Amino acid sequence: MSRKKFIAGNWKMNTTVDDACRLAQEIVTAVGKATDVDIAICPPYTNLSEVSKVIKESAVTLGAQDVHWETSGAYTGKVSCSMLKSVGVTYVIIGHSEQRQYFHETDETVNKKVTAALAAGLLPIVCVGETLDERKSGAMDTVIERQTKGAFRGISREDALKCTIAYEPVWAIGTGETATPKQANDAHIFIRNIYTGLYGDQAASQIRIQYGGSMKPENAKELLAQSDVDGGLIGGASLKAASFLRIVQPA
Ligand code: PGA
Repeated sequence: MSRKKFIAGNWKMNTTVDDACRLAQEIVTAVGKATDVDIAICPPYTNLSEVSKVIKESAVTLGAQDVHWETSGAYTGKVSCSMLKSVGVTYVIIGHSEQRQYFHETDETVNKKVTAALAAGLLPIVCVGETLDERKSGAMDTVIERQTKGAFRGISREDALKCTIAYEPVWAIGTGETATPKQANDAHIFIRNIYTGLYGDQAASQIRIQYGGSMKPENAKELLAQSDVDGGLIGGASLKAASFLRIVQPA
């Protein structure tokens, strides 16, 4: 089973509306209407609506960086799935390590968000990954297994197939340090095996697992050549059209 590569740019808390539209336009101009990889860009909430207009009729799709699981109500500062859908969002990043580290994201809230997103017709990008301490202490497998099983608790096979998993070793995010292609691939194989346990071989052969953590033009080709690396979730290198495009369209 060959899986179409999926490259997503996570812009984090960067770009004003003007910056975002400019960056999106540069990407759209280069990519056009068709690509042999799936592409998403995930700007901050404030820019989704305008960026949605820029990428309309291109092969570039829109993602959000988080979502709240409730449908509406007194949740100051939060954004619901239907709000995201109303501005043209297709994907939503859930369980990013920065949410886990700084904003009290837990396996339980990840699961609630994944459940709500799927019910609303959004496609989750579920992030898992270990910290440096967890890797050094040998807890990596336990942590990744707990995060993965936690995220998919109660999710049907059909819905689970609509998700993407992003393996993001926390020690490699924004640090310039990257997992070696073998480290990344080993982790991806481990995650795919967990997924096999949950949903069977066929589903596991279809689910895409992105690598995230300082993926950049210099290392993307080798990472993406690994058997189980099906794309990338790109932070820093997605903020410049040229470097994002070199990952999407390697020379
Ligand atoms: P990075 O971020 O590419 O800047 O390391 C990746 C991510 O956090 O999604």
